[in-house]
Amino acid sequence: MESDAVPLYVVGLTYNLKKGIASEVEDLEAEYDDISTVHAIRDSLKKAGLKVELIEADENIFYRLQDAKPDIVFNIAEGLRGRGREAQIPAILTHCGIPFTGSDETTLCIALDKALTKRLLASYRIKTPRYKVIDGVNTGSIRNFNFPLIVKPNAEGSSKGISEHAIVKNPEELKRQVRMEYEAYGQQLLVEEFIRGREFTVGIIGNGSETRVLPPMEIVYNDKNSKNNIYSYNVKKNYEKYVTYVCPPDLDKKLLDKIERTSGKIYEVLQCKDFSRIDFRMDEKGELYFIEINPLPGLAPGYSDYPMLAGFSGIGYNELILMILNSALKRYGMKTVNV
Ligand SMILES: Nc1ncnc2c1ncn2[C@@H]1O[C@H](COP(=O)(O)OP(=O)(O)OP(=O)(O)O)[C@@H](O)[C@H]1O
Ligand SMILES: [Mg+2]
Repeated sequence: MESDAVPLYVVGLTYNLKKGIASEVEDLEAEYDDISTVHAIRDSLKKAGLKVELIEADENIFYRLQDAKPDIVFNIAEGLRGRGREAQIPAILTHCGIPFTGSDETTLCIALDKALTKRLLASYRIKTPRYKVIDGVNTGSIRNFNFPLIVKPNAEGSSKGISEHAIVKNPEELKRQVRMEYEAYGQQLLVEEFIRGREFTVGIIGNGSETRVLPPMEIVYNDKNSKNNIYSYNVKKNYEKYVTYVCPPDLDKKLLDKIERTSGKIYEVLQCKDFSRIDFRMDEKGELYFIEINPLPGLAPGYSDYPMLAGFSGIGYNELILMILNSALKRYGMKTVNV
């Protein structure tokens, strides 16, 4: 039931929707949201007595912001174009002086470039698989790497470009896959050593001394016969069939601590705000490898990993949305909302 009380804030909800564009590239729109996710976030905010304005983050964003006059924006917009697309709405909001949830434009720009992030984290001794960026189809620079390798677009998310074919076992397969991905995605490709072993994803929430690293969730592959399982686009879409999520994972305390410490460090180094999700692999020796960070993780209820991780820690969807909002409100020195 809606209350008659004056809402504490007008919250603008910025997003980009899947448009259902037909394409030969199956995962063309993978990063965009379904309207059901937008509605779920809107409903969580409304239940807390807030007024919500839906703001599609398209070319008319400036006019939409002027009309909506939000006190704060809950941003899930992935952006429409370019390597820095996730950063564009935060950059506009910063420019207009409008508070918003999540990391700022600089963090989002860096994190969307996987190689740049790896380079930066390596300078803090955070281990990441050996890699090379290639621009075009020439694989001549990939020398002395240990096969198998994985080929992925350097600046994508939602497993775009990551199918079972992305793992290559020899130079011929590498050449073929590089050509295929370059044609499909037209951007720099990241070629990395493939880390066989266990996979974990970690959710983080909050800022400063209130930052909370949630217990890692292990992505356990149901197919025990394959050594090359990956969390591909197809596996994510049909996760009930291919994987089992285990949280907390069966790991000794030393390794759990290591994941938690490394996650907190990465969050701090990249100056993430409010929330993020980080992916890791661990080889048989217990060596932990950073794979990538998502400072704007998907929030689709019942589908995305981040709300799932929160769920394992007893944080329901409504509560999670308000925790993210409150983290941002606190940063801006604004009154928080009752959870
Ligand atoms: N170097 C690697 N070694 C082993 N597996 C890898 C490696 N890189 C990627 N993978 C596998 O591919 C999956 C997707 O890769 P990655 O997380 O880089 O892509 P993404 O599209 O950015 O993902 P997200 O949907 O989390 O944004 C990983 O979850 C993991 O299963
Ligand atoms: Mg990932």
